[in-house]
Parts: sequence; C-alpha cells; structure tokens
Amino acid sequence: MITFDDIEIRRPELAKSYLQLLQAQPGRPIALFAPRRVGKTFFLDQDLTPVSRKARFVPVYADLWLNQAAPLAAINHALEEALDDLTVPTTRAGKIGKTPVKKIGMLSASVELGEEPTRRKLPDDPALRFDTLVARLASQSGHTVLLMLDEVQVLAEIADGRSAIATIRAVLQKRKRDVLAVFTGSSQEALAAMTVASGGPMYQFAQLLDFPALGIEYPKALAKHYASVHTDKTLDVDDLVKAFEYLGHKPALMKDLVKWMSAEGVTDVQLALNRFVQDGRLIAGWEGLLASLQPFEQVLLSVIAKGHAPFAQGTITLLNKDPRFTASVSKVRAALERLRKSGVLAKTAGRGYLIDDTLFAEFLKRH
Ligand SMILES: Nc1ncnc2c1ncn2[C@@H]1O[C@H](COP(=O)(O)OP(=O)(O)OP(=O)(O)O)[C@@H](O)[C@H]1O
Ligand SMILES: [Mg+2]
Repeated sequence: MITFDDIEIRRPELAKSYLQLLQAQPGRPIALFAPRRVGKTFFLDQDLTPVSRKARFVPVYADLWLNQAAPLAAINHALEEALDDLTVPTTRAGKIGKTPVKKIGMLSASVELGEEPTRRKLPDDPALRFDTLVARLASQSGHTVLLMLDEVQVLAEIADGRSAIATIRAVLQKRKRDVLAVFTGSSQEALAAMTVASGGPMYQFAQLLDFPALGIEYPKALAKHYASVHTDKTLDVDDLVKAFEYLGHKPALMKDLVKWMSAEGVTDVQLALNRFVQDGRLIAGWEGLLASLQPFEQVLLSVIAKGHAPFAQGTITLLNKDPRFTASVSKVRAALERLRKSGVLAKTAGRGYLIDDTLFAEFLKRH
C-alpha cells in the first residue's frame, strides 16, 4: 500500500541536462545552489546517480560536511569505495570468478595463469592520492567518473579550504578526460564567493547554477494521494501549492503538513498551516534549538523574525533593553555569523539575514 512517504518526484530530465552541460565543457564543474532541505542530496542520489550510471559514468558521491577537517580524505574515501566496488565483487559468483586460479586442467593440458600484477600502493599524500584514484577508477572501469561533492560550501569555511579547492581544481583540469564534477551547496553567498567573485578560488572554473526546487507536481501528488485515502474529501491544489511556496519548497515539511491534515481529516490548508505551526513536536524541536543558544542569540533571532534590521540603531537600542547583555554592532555581527554557521540563519544576496525555516520564523514571531 502506498503511503505519503512513498511519494517521490523524479527528475531524470534535469539530471540529463546537467550531464550534457558537463560533457560540453570538460574540466569545468557545475556548482548547484539551493537552500537547505529542498532536495539537493535526494536529487544527487535518486536522479543524477542512476541517470549517470545508465549513461555509463561511474558516479561517486562524497559529503564534505561529514569530514570537515579533511575534505580531501572524504573525497578519497568515496573514490576508494568505488574502486573497491569495481575490483572486489560483492556476489558469490563474482568472488569465485576473481579468485586467482593458478592451474586449470583443460582436457589433458594444463594452463598456468600467473598472479595478476599488483598495483603500486596509493600515495599517502591526500592530493596525490586524489589524482591517482581518479585516474585508476577511470582506467579500471573504462568510463568517465562523475564526482558529486555535496555541501561544498564547507570548503569556503574551513582554514585550509583554499588549498583543498586548488587541489580539486588542478586534478579536475588535468584529468578532464577521466572525470566530470558536480558540486552542491546550501549557501549561495559561500558558493558565489568561491565561483563568481574574481579572486575566489574557483573563479571561472566552476559554473554556479541555481538548482530548481520541486514545482507543483509534489503538492499535486500529495493531494492525489489524500483524495485516494479520503474518498469523501479533496484538497484544493492551488491552496496546497501556495502552502508549498510558503514552506520554502521543502518537501519533507510539506509532506508532514499533508500527513497531519490526513490524520485529522482537515481540508482547509490555511487552518492546517496555523495549527501545524503549533504542533507539539515541532515546538519541542524549536525550543530545544533555542535552548542551545546564548540569550543574546535567542533575542537577536526573535528580533530578526519580527522583521527588524539587525544592525539598525533602533534594533541595538531594543536589544539593550534586555538586562542580560549589552548589545553593539560588532556583537550583533559575531552572533549573526555564529547563527549562520550553525545553519539557523541564511545570508541572502541583498536581503541580509534570513531565518532558514519559515515555520521556525513563524514560531519566533509568536513568542
Ligand atoms: N524529489 C523528492 N520527492 C519527494 N521527497 C523529496 C524529494 N527530494 C527531497 N525530498 C525529501 O526532502 C527532504 C530533504 O531532502 P534532502 O536531504 O535531499 O535536501 P537537501 O537540500 O540535501 O538538504 P540539506 O541542505 O539539509 O542537505 C528529505 O526528507 C527527502 O526525502
Ligand atoms: Mg543535503
């Protein structure tokens, strides 16, 4: 039986268009930007990976967030796994096939097969290792490697990010016949600083693109499923599409909303949104998040949620009404930066700082 959780939107055409773009510009990766939780990782995993495999690429995925201290190590690990998958078959039949056979009796003659020549050890230096791994993976598979680096904005934020980028850049250009690369990131500001700003380490190297959020097909599919569960009720698709926009095109939030509507038998989307924001589980999560912050950051967040410009004199005066701290422009700047690094705030081009999660912003407004 299908549930709301089974509803997934596939975008193979989008994946194909990225592959074509990459093939048209060897050596030049694309960097896809989209805000948090809109489905970047899902797309890499569910769309780009199968489409590229079908097109005879060897897809390799590495999440740089997981090993921020050593991004090249994270990439190398992913490449080594892919290389293992090629050389160490996982099925039993495969294993038997690869067991070195020294002597095979064929009729009366016997054939001697030598040991496979063993490869030289991989270099320990991470940069050389990366270069060698790319070359080996391509030559052993006979196909081009598609390297997918998720959360690449990490490189803009760590101390030796620049040198990691320089290595990645050098290897991707040197091995442009062997490897294509897609980067994704959730900070437009960080990606732009790396790729678009002159002097940025990927300037004129990677091409920055906006990754499109899911469109109306997702709320439509949810509404369709709702109607199949509640034969006497329907959801207004236009209202649902508006709610999806309001939720920042984040499918998991949207799904939770419609699931909640289904459980309660509610069809009024606006009413559901209002009540959903007051849902105990969501509130517990937000309260936990707030509790992990310093009082100054907590108050600053609620001030931003209420639409005040963080650096305005009026805002500083307002903040100073709280006896727990004294506010200043530099303190505000430092706190904003901490909140941005922890992912609570996003920095947007022109519009300043934005609370990433619309519902959380709504919650802050009310408290
Ligand atoms: N095409 C889709 N169809 C249905 N659900 C989706 C789709 N894409 C993403 N989702 C759901 O949305 C949620 C967030 O997706 P995902 O983790 O890919 O986002 P992300 O942009 O990588 O987020 P982050 O910036 O936090 O890494 C997941 O629960 C995922 O299952
Ligand atoms: Mg992700």
